[in-house]
Amino acid sequence: MSDRYTQFANSPLGRMLIKNLGLPAPLNLDRFQAGEPVINGAVLLGAAPGAVLTAGIARTLKNIQAEVHSYAQDQVVKTAKEAGLGVKVWNPEVDTEQKFKALVFDASGITRSDDLVQVYHFFHPVMRKLVESSRIIILGLPPEACTTPRQATAQRALEGFTRSLGKEVKKGGAAQLVYVAQDADKQAESTLRFFLSPRSAYVSAQVVRISASNTEAALDWNKPLAGKVALVTGASRGIGEAIAKTLARDGAHVVGLDIPALSDDLRVVTSMIGGSALALDITAGDAPAKIADYLKSNHGGVDIIVHNAGVTRDKTLANMTQQQWDMVMNINLCSEERINDELLAQNVIRENGRVICVSSISGIAGNMGQSNYGMSKAGVIGMVQSMAPLLYAKNITINAVAPGFIETAMTAAIPFAIREAGRRMNSMSQGGLPIDVAETIAWYASPASAGVNGNIVRVCGQSLIGA
Ligand SMILES: NC(=O)c1ccc[n+]([C@@H]2O[C@H](COP(=O)([O-])OP(=O)(O)OC[C@H]3O[C@@H](n4cnc5c(N)ncnc54)[C@H](O)[C@@H]3O)[C@@H](O)[C@H]2O)c1
Repeated sequence: MSDRYTQFANSPLGRMLIKNLGLPAPLNLDRFQAGEPVINGAVLLGAAPGAVLTAGIARTLKNIQAEVHSYAQDQVVKTAKEAGLGVKVWNPEVDTEQKFKALVFDASGITRSDDLVQVYHFFHPVMRKLVESSRIIILGLPPEACTTPRQATAQRALEGFTRSLGKEVKKGGAAQLVYVAQDADKQAESTLRFFLSPRSAYVSAQVVRISASNTEAALDWNKPLAGKVALVTGASRGIGEAIAKTLARDGAHVVGLDIPALSDDLRVVTSMIGGSALALDITAGDAPAKIADYLKSNHGGVDIIVHNAGVTRDKTLANMTQQQWDMVMNINLCSEERINDELLAQNVIRENGRVICVSSISGIAGNMGQSNYGMSKAGVIGMVQSMAPLLYAKNITINAVAPGFIETAMTAAIPFAIREAGRRMNSMSQGGLPIDVAETIAWYASPASAGVNGNIVRVCGQSLIGA
């Protein structure tokens, strides 16, 4: 649905009025267009002394043909050169006109809190040099894997810095923290590409952990899902429709699933993308077996499962019927567990497979009138976190997105005042679009994301709810 305030805020009159009245100023966010480079603008690269991730970052920046600058930091220039990346040295006092689209800082060398000032030295001179929809990425080591409490403390501190910068960056910019485990730097490329590009338009202030993986995927970054089969539940409309179209855009054959009552709408979507339609209710007792049989007999298995189907039945607990409780729990959580169990038991999910779930910020923060929904979506997070180590052993990953306010039929039904609050109470002052959730899912789905496992990433423009 249309957000008229954002349209007005981007008109000449709107811009003037909003500035004078000090109102929220949502910007038209950059979003990915086919054929565009990963990043359109200069990148400033820096590192703390002793950093261990810079070579991997430099390889990615070289692969995406980024224009890279650094301060006169010998270590960064040398490491970049060894990785085949040319770097221009930038002196902020001399070249005052230079602007940046992205800032990337390798903080992995920081082993004690006194050295966190390195972060200040890198970011302070450049914060006024950012263009619209800019990207800030800080890379560090997972605190839980650090060898001393001092090192773990310093690395953990990066989280508060990143989340604060997300609130300061404005003009549609975003800041992320990526913790890269030992021996996992080769796995970080898909994540760096995602966070540098406009594909992550509505994702900000997230902390992602990359783990080591033996899976090395040589792939065409323009069609990363070529030859893959993806099942998307709730695919006939809203976020599910965007997920189906995005995975098909990336090369997958999509099996769209929705309830029989919406099979006509579902077929419209799947025929547009050359996919196939499977009409069934995921809560039916025989649904898991039917899904497994369908995927085995038609495709010999499945590579990607996106558990997107979900409903709300909002009531305060005192007013909630058990039917409302059961329906939400069954669709949003219990049926996903049953489907996963069946697909795993029958070995339907192929090697380097992906299980991707759609949670909600309501599952993180809770929401008035959503005890059933918040419980189901928190359960989804529990399912991801508990299954991740088990699936890792089978070379399968499981992750979740937690959307905030996304412009769909679900949010259009919210009363006006609550809807406006949901839309504006985030660092981008606007709701996200279904494509923003879909792009995040496409990043998880990529064969190059084998090191991204057990993560919960909010697609919420850094919503204040549950912040
Ligand atoms: N829209 C938002 O702002 C938002 C925010 C957070 C999370 N989410 C989650 O995103 C997902 C998609 O939401 P949406 O806004 O696109 O909603 P939507 O209502 O537009 O779409 C949900 C789809 O799931 C299908 N579905 C429902 N029950 C089913 C069942 N038993 N079997 C098969 N399919 C079933 C519906 O028919 C529908 O096509 C949901 O899990 C929702 O909880 C949405």
